[in-house]
Amino acid sequence: MKKILFAVCVVFISADSFSQPSQLIPQPVSEIRENGIYTLSNNPVISAIGNPDIERIGQQFAHHMSFVTGYGTTVIHMSSTVKSDIILALSDDESIPKEGYRLKVATNGITITANEAAGVFYGVQTLLQLLPKQIESKTAVKPFDGWNIPFVTIEDHPRFGWRGLMLDVSRHFFTVAEVKDFRDQIVKYKFNLLHLHLTDDQGWRLQIKSLPKLTEVGAWRVERTGNFGTLSKPKPGEPTTYGGFYTHDDIKELVKYAADRFVNILPEIDVPGHSLAALAAYPELSCTPGEYYVSPGDRFMIWPGGGQHFYGTLDNTICPANEKAYEFLDKVFTEVAELFPFGYIHMGGDETARNFWEKSEQVKALMQKEKLKDLDEVQSYFVKRVEKIINSKGKKMIGWDEILQGGIAPNAAVMSWRGMKGGVEAAKQGHEVVMSPADFAYLDYMQGDGVIEPPVYASLRLKKAYQFDPVPEGIDEKLIKGGQANLWTEQVYNTRHLQYMIWPRAFAIAEVLWSPKPARPSGGEKRNWSNFTSRVESHFDRLEAAGVKYSPAMYDPIFEVSKKDTATIIVKLSTEIDGLAIHYSFDNSFPDNFYPEYTSPLTVPKDASFLKVITYRNNKPVGRMMVMPIAELKKRAGIK
Ligand code: ACM
Repeated sequence: MKKILFAVCVVFISADSFSQPSQLIPQPVSEIRENGIYTLSNNPVISAIGNPDIERIGQQFAHHMSFVTGYGTTVIHMSSTVKSDIILALSDDESIPKEGYRLKVATNGITITANEAAGVFYGVQTLLQLLPKQIESKTAVKPFDGWNIPFVTIEDHPRFGWRGLMLDVSRHFFTVAEVKDFRDQIVKYKFNLLHLHLTDDQGWRLQIKSLPKLTEVGAWRVERTGNFGTLSKPKPGEPTTYGGFYTHDDIKELVKYAADRFVNILPEIDVPGHSLAALAAYPELSCTPGEYYVSPGDRFMIWPGGGQHFYGTLDNTICPANEKAYEFLDKVFTEVAELFPFGYIHMGGDETARNFWEKSEQVKALMQKEKLKDLDEVQSYFVKRVEKIINSKGKKMIGWDEILQGGIAPNAAVMSWRGMKGGVEAAKQGHEVVMSPADFAYLDYMQGDGVIEPPVYASLRLKKAYQFDPVPEGIDEKLIKGGQANLWTEQVYNTRHLQYMIWPRAFAIAEVLWSPKPARPSGGEKRNWSNFTSRVESHFDRLEAAGVKYSPAMYDPIFEVSKKDTATIIVKLSTEIDGLAIHYSFDNSFPDNFYPEYTSPLTVPKDASFLKVITYRNNKPVGRMMVMPIAELKKRAGIK
């Protein structure tokens, strides 16, 4: 009986494997499936042919395989004659593009070929996704007899060379191990750049040996928990217990770890704004020297809205008219340039509150001396001097799109975050551009409705992230280096929430940056939303196998609220993905699939307090119980 059961099982697995469409993220350039599966032998042999980088990739893969499978995987260096399960090989086939690879799984095993090591590495990431989800396990999966891989031929290469994710380690500090873990997760989806936002008002996170107070003072703040911007200011003499920083050795370790996995680290030192932590250490760098503190997330920047300029109630800027500021920055960038081998240094440049500059006699004198007609030109003067410093260390400068104000520095690259218009303008002026528009790529934004998500001031659904295209109409694709998504961490206190915020939206960004441009702007062959979400769901299974948290917001209903007459609320519900049934209640009890199913817009009963909704698929709950106060619906409908 056991034998029969086993045979049935194998047939089932095989048939299933043949018929399943690819679940790869990002989708490869081309993939041809064939009937059949290759099953890894109990002691799989890997041949690594080419150079020591290929051997290292083989070792990384073998280490992971032997740990998860319990098989004693061996790596054989430079040996094409030994019978192998997996061949990783460098070739000189010039038809394989940069970072590209060919992967073939057939009767005689698995071959990954590329003409540079990075390509072999990406081929291995694809191979991992072709293996059963158990390969993601953090513990040994034994006994397990299904290390099956479908027969397939894949040709693949990235659309963009800059495929980034930014992690803000200032607002909340993440340890070296946590940053490595973040990198391990994102590299599976073929990101190749980790941008570390190392400094801000809430903490200076990089040791600068020539300026020790930056980390002795600037890396620490009083501890607060709650909503950023509403947290209480430090009390006099209160101990600064929250924080941390990376030593030079930490950075060397992070850089090596990343480089071994073909990831560059882009360091960001955000000046002249966002500099309270630096000023807490060296107040003399401000135009308004005095007492400064590292902000715990209290309110000192005012955003009036309605087109009015933001301003600070506390000066958090480095003074552009102070020569000491440039001496300071020279010291900082000397060490940054030595520590980070990547060719670019990010100098921030965003959101500079200039209301204190306006009143500064020093700034007025600078304007006269340098013939600067307004504060945009003062800011531009600062940025151009910073660029000279950075260029003098043999690096290129990149900054947020505010560096265009008052005239861009001659060699600067622009990271466009306030939409894509800054990037377009920079590209037209011949500057390099990385697109990172907030409305498509800000992973700190809520993934769904604010009634259920941890509150942040804006939202970005998965579907919108998947519509990102870094090359706007009419712009030469060659002028755009690529794109990235950014995770600001004002509201991200720990790594579980970090994971929740990046997944699944980083899947969308990964595919946007790697996979070929869609044949049509939307709904084209390669950007098929329902195909994408079905792959996302299979990667949810992989994240679960890896013990990684993700947001299920794509299963939650979307509320569209209007009013009828003057006081009646009408609620339209929809879902981001197909095939879900929405069940609801107005009577305060928790709905399930026996409750009414939403089919047409709801009229809210006059005295109801809550609308509760939940989504089901095949009679199983998939969305979360959403509890919407009627008072909130009233507000959204514009009813007083
Ligand atoms: C930014 O989000 N201030 C670059």
